Amino acid sequence: MLLSITLFLWVFCSSSSSTSVAASVSYDDRAITINGQRRILISGSIHYPRSTPEMWPDLIKKAKDGGLDVIQTYVFWNGHEPSQGQYNFAGRYDLVRFIKLVQQAGLYVHLRIGPYVCAEWNFGGFPVWLKYVQGISFRTDNEPFKAAMQKFTKKIVDVMKSEKLFQTQGGPIIMCQIENEYGPVEWEIGAPGKAYTKWMAQMAVSLGTGVPWIMCKQEDAPDPIIDTCNGFYCENFKPNKSSKPKMWTEAWTGGGTVFGASVSRRPVEDLAFSVARFIQNNGSFVNYYMYHGGTNFGRTTAGLFIAPSYDFDAPIDEYGLLREPKWGHLRNLHKAIKQCEPALVSSYPTVTWPGNNLEVHVFNSKSACAAFLANYDTKSPAKVAFQNTRYDLPPWSISILLDCKIEIFNTAKISSESSQMKMTPVNGGVFSWQSSNEQTVSADDSDTIARDGLWDQISLTRDASDYLWYLTNVNIQPGEAFLKNRQSPTLTIMSAGHTLHIFINGQLSGTTYGSLQNPKLTYSGNVKLRAGINKISLLSVAVGLPNVGLHFETWNTGVLGPVTLKGLNEGTRDLTNQKWSYKVGLKGESLKLHTLDGSSSVEWVEGSSLATKRPLTWYKTTFNTPAGNDPLALDMSTMGKGEIWVNGQSIGRHWPGYKARGNCGGCSYAGIFNEKKCRTNCGEASQRWYHVPRLWLKPSGNSLVVFEEWGGDPTGISLVKRTAQ
Ligand code: GAL
Repeated sequence: MLLSITLFLWVFCSSSSSTSVAASVSYDDRAITINGQRRILISGSIHYPRSTPEMWPDLIKKAKDGGLDVIQTYVFWNGHEPSQGQYNFAGRYDLVRFIKLVQQAGLYVHLRIGPYVCAEWNFGGFPVWLKYVQGISFRTDNEPFKAAMQKFTKKIVDVMKSEKLFQTQGGPIIMCQIENEYGPVEWEIGAPGKAYTKWMAQMAVSLGTGVPWIMCKQEDAPDPIIDTCNGFYCENFKPNKSSKPKMWTEAWTGGGTVFGASVSRRPVEDLAFSVARFIQNNGSFVNYYMYHGGTNFGRTTAGLFIAPSYDFDAPIDEYGLLREPKWGHLRNLHKAIKQCEPALVSSYPTVTWPGNNLEVHVFNSKSACAAFLANYDTKSPAKVAFQNTRYDLPPWSISILLDCKIEIFNTAKISSESSQMKMTPVNGGVFSWQSSNEQTVSADDSDTIARDGLWDQISLTRDASDYLWYLTNVNIQPGEAFLKNRQSPTLTIMSAGHTLHIFINGQLSGTTYGSLQNPKLTYSGNVKLRAGINKISLLSVAVGLPNVGLHFETWNTGVLGPVTLKGLNEGTRDLTNQKWSYKVGLKGESLKLHTLDGSSSVEWVEGSSLATKRPLTWYKTTFNTPAGNDPLALDMSTMGKGEIWVNGQSIGRHWPGYKARGNCGGCSYAGIFNEKKCRTNCGEASQRWYHVPRLWLKPSGNSLVVFEEWGGDPTGISLVKRTAQ
């Protein structure tokens, strides 16, 4: 279907979005149409709870300046409904405010309601209470699940409608998404999955948003829903019907940060190449995942082992600074695509192959012409003769020709300047600390819960804390041979994750932890036991709930056993099914030591009495806010693992003690990119710096509290400012 010439001119002139007037949004085989006009839309993901409201206007402005038309965000169910029926739309969860800011900037919104979002976010966005709804089975044809999902989806749509935020009401939302990458799950579970897909499609469409719905990675998305692509490349993707446009909802700019893993960087030459390749192959919507990744504050990171930094090597870095040359090079690409938009939306290309690894796409309508010259060779540059002119193409690159003549962009020729990010200590760098010891607990303590056998951690904590004490007593007869021959028995503990500290009679006897590849862990070590009652106290620590997988209702963690003691006169004693007692959370958590009021309830020591390298220790200090607007962070490189609070707000879990495994190797932009290429931080902390948002600070007397689980040296912590140079 081709549009008329007048229409092309209109599209060309109206490329900056106007969202104050109600408009119709639909699609045809080529593109999303707004008021009947096809659009090539450039979009970027910015997740509102991953930055502070104070940062939003600047992030949105930088996105607009970077040539974006659309901001895409997920909706984070567990942030909006932390307890069943109790909604939260305040602060970082003020979705309406975020969308209105996008509207004020003249950009559109793609709202991915999910409400399953994946996103390296705790439990994939599901509230933990949902796991305990009677008869629930997640993401399948299950009535309790469907009822809860429908209720939340409708709630979000109703909030958007009441604020007139859909494009058909004059608002900025031009598209919605239901579920997230459900296709592979459906493929695995079969019939109930198919029924669920059909149901959710009908449910979503019946909500009457007036704008198109998409499902990503869902080849059988029922009409009128559009199936879209996610990945590093999507040029060969085909939508679920020839009447639907080819859309890329997640063009990955890098990857999330995982404790214990190296960090992924994606060269901008390859990212630009993948986008140009998608557009030349008739793609009409590209969303960068992420355009600004931000920070997983508090305990919002998913298990397994996801770190607070969600920088994602995005064009705008975690702190809101432009990452150059990534941001600038992509801005130039977007400009080039926009200049060619009239030709792109009005014709399908003719494709020719002028040589080995060379390909030419020409979009030629009566009024406009655009050409894409591609060199797919990963090593050699090429000279391509096109319409009597020769063009030089670096390896693995695409040139965009305006009017089929003028090279306005090449994906591998970077003209924007590079910048280096610098972390500079401020306030003289160091703090003056006080410490307070966290107490270990034993089975005989009064406020513990006794149960037979070993219980799943989350069923007891309901994820209100990372910590659960597993406590039991072991009676050793005076006649045990090991007491005489000094061969200590071996304690073996199987845990479903994620980290574990073993205390025997109040003394730390071992620490162990899992990894992204294998969250489960086994501890096996000799333990010092004496005749009589011995107190075994296991502190099991979860690092978030998983965000991917099937049957979230069956997911569990903690010490599930077996737990055995080997080397006794009787041989091996199985402790798994004996009486265990439980205590949820740390004493310091229940006393709220991270708050001003709470911290006065314990004794703190300082100076030469300050505890360093001691596991399970609380630290506190105060500091003044440095002048200026540069983003701030804490350098935590001398610490092990734990959590950090500034003025009572958690800035996330720190774990610099977990060093990135593996070999980083080199990084050539040319050739197919994958997660194994272009890694950084090998042998170093996966995350060393932790973002302290300026919004949470007052000019002076800010409180900083750190809980250290492993043992670290707080005197090495420093406050730094981040600048681009
Ligand atoms: C996708 C998923 C996103 C995010 C991304 C990370 O598969 O849809 O939510 O998890 O992977 O690369």
